[in-house]
Amino acid sequence: MSALNIVILAAGKGTRMYSEKPKVLHALAGKPLVQHVLDCATALQPQQICVVYGHGGEAVPQAMRQYAAQFVIQEPQLGTGHAVQQAMPHLANNGNTLVLYGDVPLIQHSTLHQMQQAGSGLVLLTVDLDNPAGYGRIVRNEQGDVLSIVEEKDASPEQRAIREVNTGILLAPTGKLREWLANLRNNNAQGEYYLTDIVGMAVQQGIAVHTVQPAHEWEIHGVNSKAQLAALERARQQVEASRLLSHGVTLADPARIEVRGRLICGRDVEIDVGCVFEGDVTLGDNVRVGAYSIIRNAVIAGGACIAPYSLIDSSEVGADCHIGPYARLRPGTKLHDSVHIGNFVEVKNSEIGSGSKANHLSYIGDSTIGSRVNIGAGTITCNYDGANKHRTIIEDDVFIGSDTQLVAPVRVGKGATIGAGSTITQDAPEGELSLSRSKQTTINGWKRPTKEKI
Ligand code: UD1
Ligand code: MG
Repeated sequence: MSALNIVILAAGKGTRMYSEKPKVLHALAGKPLVQHVLDCATALQPQQICVVYGHGGEAVPQAMRQYAAQFVIQEPQLGTGHAVQQAMPHLANNGNTLVLYGDVPLIQHSTLHQMQQAGSGLVLLTVDLDNPAGYGRIVRNEQGDVLSIVEEKDASPEQRAIREVNTGILLAPTGKLREWLANLRNNNAQGEYYLTDIVGMAVQQGIAVHTVQPAHEWEIHGVNSKAQLAALERARQQVEASRLLSHGVTLADPARIEVRGRLICGRDVEIDVGCVFEGDVTLGDNVRVGAYSIIRNAVIAGGACIAPYSLIDSSEVGADCHIGPYARLRPGTKLHDSVHIGNFVEVKNSEIGSGSKANHLSYIGDSTIGSRVNIGAGTITCNYDGANKHRTIIEDDVFIGSDTQLVAPVRVGKGATIGAGSTITQDAPEGELSLSRSKQTTINGWKRPTKEKI
C-alpha cells in the first residue's frame, strides 16, 4: 500500500458546545474526541499525522503531546480547504493524504482501510441519509459518476433533494491535493475555501473519483453540541454492550453499562445495572459485578464477586474474593485469593494474603497482611504521622479485635491476637495476646441526668 499522510481537522470553534474547552477535547467514552481519531489514525501506520488546530490555543497540542503528530495552527479559520492547506507544507509529496476530523470520533479502521483499497484517484466517504439537511450533496451524472460536491447553502432545490452526502472524509493523491488546494477560490455562499471544491477539479482533469460507504452511520457523525455528544456516547455504549453480549457476557441491561476504555471478560461474567468500567479492566471467568460499581484499571480474577456500590481503582483482586457492598479499593491494592473486603472498608497500597477478611468499617493503608487474618470491625491503620507514611505488617493467622488502631510502623507477629479497642504502638509478639485498654470501672448508683422542668 502506498505511503500515507493523515490530516486531522480540529480548528473549528465549537460555538454550540457553550464551553471554554476546545470542542475536540470533550470526552466520549472517557477519551477526548480527537484522541479517538488519533488512535484510529495511528493504527493505519501513516508516515505523518498532522493536526490542524485553532480555537483554544495550545490546549489541543498540549493534551495530545504523547502522539507522534505535527500540530499546525489555522488562524484565522477560512474553511475546510484553507485548513488542509495549513498542513500541506508539513507533508511529504509521495503517496496519499487522508483527511479526518477531530470531532468525528467513531470512524473505524476498517472503513478507512476500505478507502485505501478503493483504487487510485480521489476517494470520498459518502453516506445516504433520510435527512441530508446541512450536508454537502454528492452530485453524479446519469452514468453515476461523481461530478462534484455542492454545499447545502450553494445548492439548487433539485440538488438539495439528493440523499447521498459528503461525510468530509476523503483520500487524495498528495501531489494532486497540493495543486488543487492552491487553486481554491472562496466565491461561494459562505465566503470560505471549501475542501469539497477539489472534487470538481479532479473530474475536470479526468482523475477517477471513487466513493466508499461506512459500515455504520455512527462512524461519520460529528459532534457540534452537547446533545450530539450525548447521542454519540449512547451509540458508542450500545456498540460496546452488543460486543460484550456477543461474547457471552450477561448484562442485566445493555442500556445501563458504561465502558470508558477496554473491558475484557472471561466466560459467564455477569454485570448488573449502572456499572462503569474505566481504563483497562479484565474480569475473569464467573466474575459477578453488582449494581452501580465502578472499576478502573483493575484485574479481577475468576469467581470474584463485587457486591453493589463498590469502587475499585488500580487494584488486583484474586480469585473468589468477595468485595463490598460499599467497598473502596484504592491504587496499589493487591488481594490474593478468597479475601473478603466488606462494607465501608477502604484499602490502599496494601497486599492482603489469601483467606483474610476485613468485613466492616476499616481503613487499611500501606499494609502487608498475611493469610487467614481477621481484621475486626472499625480497625484503622494509622499510616500517616503528619509528614510521612509508614507500613503496618500483619503476619499470617493474626486476629485483630474490633476498633483497634495500629500505629505504623508496627508489626503484628504470626498467630498473635490483639484485644478489641487497643491502640497498638509497639510490635506485638507472635502467638500472644496484646492489648492496650484502661481498666473497666463501675460507678455504683450513678444516675442519668433528667430534663429540668421550667
Ligand atoms: C463540511 C463539508 C460538507 C460535509 C460536512 C460533513 C466543506 C466545505 N463542507 O461542511 O460537504 O457534508 O462537512 O460534516 O468541507 N474546520 C477547520 N477549519 C475551518 C473550517 C472547518 O478546522 O476553517 C473543521 C471543523 O472543526 C470541523 C470540520 O472542519 O471539524 C468541518 O467543518 P464545518 O464548518 O463543520 O463543515 P460543514 O460546513 O459542516
Ligand atoms: Mg462550515
